[in-house]
Amino acid sequence: MVPVLEVAGLNKTYSSKGETVKAVNNISFSVNPGEIVGVLGPNGSGKTTTLKSICGLNAMDTGLIRVNGEDIEHQQWAAMLSTGAVLEGARNVYWRLTPQENIVYFAGLKGVPRNEACLRAQELIDRLSLNKYCDQQVRMLSKGNQQKVAIACALVHRPSLILLDEPTLGLDVDMVRDMKDWLRQLVDTRLSAMLVTSHDMDFIEAICDRVIILYQGEVISQNSVEELRRQFSPQKTFDLQVQGHPSGSVKADLETSQWSIEENATSSRLTLRTGDLDTLSLALASLEQSGHRLIDINVTSDALEDIFIHTIKRTSSPAAESISQASAGGEQ
Ligand SMILES: Nc1ncnc2c1ncn2[C@@H]1O[C@H](COP(=O)(O)OP(=O)(O)OP(=O)(O)O)[C@@H](O)[C@H]1O
Ligand SMILES: [Mg+2]
Repeated sequence: MVPVLEVAGLNKTYSSKGETVKAVNNISFSVNPGEIVGVLGPNGSGKTTTLKSICGLNAMDTGLIRVNGEDIEHQQWAAMLSTGAVLEGARNVYWRLTPQENIVYFAGLKGVPRNEACLRAQELIDRLSLNKYCDQQVRMLSKGNQQKVAIACALVHRPSLILLDEPTLGLDVDMVRDMKDWLRQLVDTRLSAMLVTSHDMDFIEAICDRVIILYQGEVISQNSVEELRRQFSPQKTFDLQVQGHPSGSVKADLETSQWSIEENATSSRLTLRTGDLDTLSLALASLEQSGHRLIDINVTSDALEDIFIHTIKRTSSPAAESISQASAGGEQ
């Protein structure tokens, strides 16, 4: 299978006022048809620079970028037609045009005939609930609605590669949920590939097949969310509710195993964050033997945010740097 996007050995340095910043340092990855890949990283780690290089807005120093197998430096026009991008902080649309005029204009730029462009614009306006704002200039819309117009403009020509930089910025909770479903469905049905950056971990976790973590311009991890969980933080939080109040040796044993115990009127709540399932089995057995019936149990895995912070901390600690880099290298 030819990946929709291949990035190999990408380097980008900015120079301004006599200072140079190595924004992206030798990164490599690919995105296959039907795949959504999230790019995570702290502020300034090179996410936007990577996306800008892929859509040709940044001249890279060295490296190779292929879209549908074509080198973007030699096949610029083909790559542009295959790509739809919304970049963070950029004016992605025309402020003095309405949503409909913007979408039709961008469709025309990417070669969609006018009749078809009008049909697609209406479809997108309906899907993104922009009908109410159809006659208003984009500059009058809320940030969230401007963002929806920008996404519609980027997708109207049905690109095989979708690049979204912070797409949920300004969207309310309901719209983020809807956007997640819509984008996932688009990628699945059209077998497009999507590269998306976000600081919204719930969004990334819900939508992405794979996650790339950048740190100071380098890829420090590249894995599925499940694999990241397994590799970096195989911890779960167990939250048990049992009848009565454990006392004597049962309570002492639980506390020795680091369970925290909170006693309510007729029941007790026991919580523990651990990767060791034996601790749970032992607690359950001893509670049952002493006649404390289990009322409820709740298990939560570490959120992607915890894993992300953990991964960054490991990398920024000199002792762990070699381990993390070896892990990132092994996955590429
Ligand atoms: N046009 C530019 N000129 C000079 N330096 C730049 C320019 N654009 C970005 N940088 C620098 O390059 C580095 C990477 O920036 P980039 O915008 O790619 O990070 P980011 O991961 O997108 O950050 P954020 O999470 O804040 O959006 C930063 O140190 C930034 O200051
Ligand atoms: Mg950015």
